[in-house]
Amino acid sequence: MPIMNDHDKRQSIIDACLRMNQLGINQGTSGNISLRHDEGMLITPTSVPYEAMQPEQIVYMGLDGSLAPDARPSSEWRFHLDILKARPEVNAVVHAHPPYATILAIMGLEIPPVHYMIACAGGDTIRCAPYATYGTQELSQYAVKALEDRLACLLAHHGMIAVGPSLSKAMWLAVEVETLARQYHGCLQIGTPPLLSKAEIKNVLGRIAGYGPAAE
Ligand code: 13P
Repeated sequence: MPIMNDHDKRQSIIDACLRMNQLGINQGTSGNISLRHDEGMLITPTSVPYEAMQPEQIVYMGLDGSLAPDARPSSEWRFHLDILKARPEVNAVVHAHPPYATILAIMGLEIPPVHYMIACAGGDTIRCAPYATYGTQELSQYAVKALEDRLACLLAHHGMIAVGPSLSKAMWLAVEVETLARQYHGCLQIGTPPLLSKAEIKNVLGRIAGYGPAAE
């Protein structure tokens, strides 16, 4: 990733939050975003409307969980931090409550290989992590597990997480996941969709590496 200074990174997080809502993959303040920064992460503050969010309100948290005394990070800081700790190749974490991904997550459904673009998330499924109360360490553990060898997962009765080497890639993937969820949801209205084979997804995985926007 090109070097961005602290202020630019903070502003890029706010811009991405606004974009999530414009794109219809989130509503209100239910999403949150983090970016790896120095020996920690920059993360959205809890419950601040994106339109009013200021760069100085973005919270810095060390990888050890250290915080400024008056900081109010997103209630989901645990899974943001744990994902960045578990996945050195990941620099950005996007969490949102996109309508179709969340419908599937409420039903406890993973997304199967109904479309080859699922390979953009790293495998032949997008798993659905079991339910745990928002903001808890239990939810964080489930999320990290559901993301093993993957760049996205659903969270039961909750929403979706997309990660990437850059914020633009993670945002792009979040939109792709919601598109896949919408397609799968549509298929389920007609019947049981036929699936692509594991071998074909493996074939696509070999071609699709690096697809998507260039890192910002
Ligand atoms: P924050 O406003 O604390 O980021 O939380 C929103 C949310 O919906 C958590 O899943």
